[in-house]
Amino acid sequence: DWKMQDVLEEEIKVIKDMVGPEDHVICALSGGVDSAVAATLVHKAIGDRLHCVFVDNGLLRYKEQERVMETFQRDLHLPVTCVDATDKFLSKLKGVVDPETKRKIIGREFICIFDDFAQDLEHKLGNKPVFLVQGTLYPDVIESCPPPGSGRTHSHTIKSHHNVGGLPKDMKLKLIEPLKLLFKDEVREVGRILNVPQSFLKRHPFPGPGLAVRVLGDVTGGNALDILRQVDEIFIQSIKDAGLYDSIWQAFAVFLPIRSVGVQGDQRTHSHVVALRAVTSQDGMTADWYYFEHKFLDDVARKICNSVRGVNRVVQDITSKPPSTIEWE
Ligand code: XMP
Repeated sequence: DWKMQDVLEEEIKVIKDMVGPEDHVICALSGGVDSAVAATLVHKAIGDRLHCVFVDNGLLRYKEQERVMETFQRDLHLPVTCVDATDKFLSKLKGVVDPETKRKIIGREFICIFDDFAQDLEHKLGNKPVFLVQGTLYPDVIESCPPPGSGRTHSHTIKSHHNVGGLPKDMKLKLIEPLKLLFKDEVREVGRILNVPQSFLKRHPFPGPGLAVRVLGDVTGGNALDILRQVDEIFIQSIKDAGLYDSIWQAFAVFLPIRSVGVQGDQRTHSHVVALRAVTSQDGMTADWYYFEHKFLDDVARKICNSVRGVNRVVQDITSKPPSTIEWE
């Protein structure tokens, strides 16, 4: 695609001009396509003056840390450090139920960890990192802050995406956002040109606040995160096995903070309800819920209840965006 090839070359040039020959750059890898493509692009422009960090916030999916670190190191050759900050995030989220508050806490914590990482790096290099790379896309920019004349009527934030606008005023790092004019499919095209593996490029989007926006209410209550990871893995694996993964924009499970009555074996149970969500979309700004065959849904629901302890009911989300958003929080 000549157009994306041009965009890529132009971006690399812009970054080379912007970043001085002594400057160091840090990048937070989220595990998603956007930050990985952004980092690979910047790596191409400035080489090992890029320093990536992957934060395990304790809100990742099943085996995600291992899986993405392998891709970053083995496939993309990115210089990356993994920071396990599970305890920090979960202790700050304890008892918090409001979705916006959860997002803000997570956003702030990320920034603190980047700052720490930057300071450690400064000690190591004897030189301050000056820039921070973010994989912000065009839809993130306009949903958080619609440009004047864009025809979008809302002036308030629908959801505060942690990677847009939430940076503290005193943050000393300047931003590099090489993808901020691109839509998702264009980012995948840029990634393809940069030889990012197809399997990685085809990964469904995953929100920065991770499973915190998929466990409704208090994330830290009981073993919600653990249950959600198991349910989500079964759902995604079933979708892959059925050959449906690439036809779906995003699929995931949601943990609901309610219990319902069930019967399993001869036992009456009072256990958790999980919701399955799958949507098709072009860019995440609007979405349609995905029609699965009944047989597929039946198999998945049985498998979940049979193998995940603490779940006795599975429901499917059949709303589109609008009126719903893709995530539940
Ligand atoms: P919603 O739920 O707003 O989501 O319809 C639209 C798309 O954005 C993803 N999403 C996020 N991505 N940081 C991100 O990087 C966030 O805070 C965030 N919140 C939602 C969501 O998964 C969907 O693809």
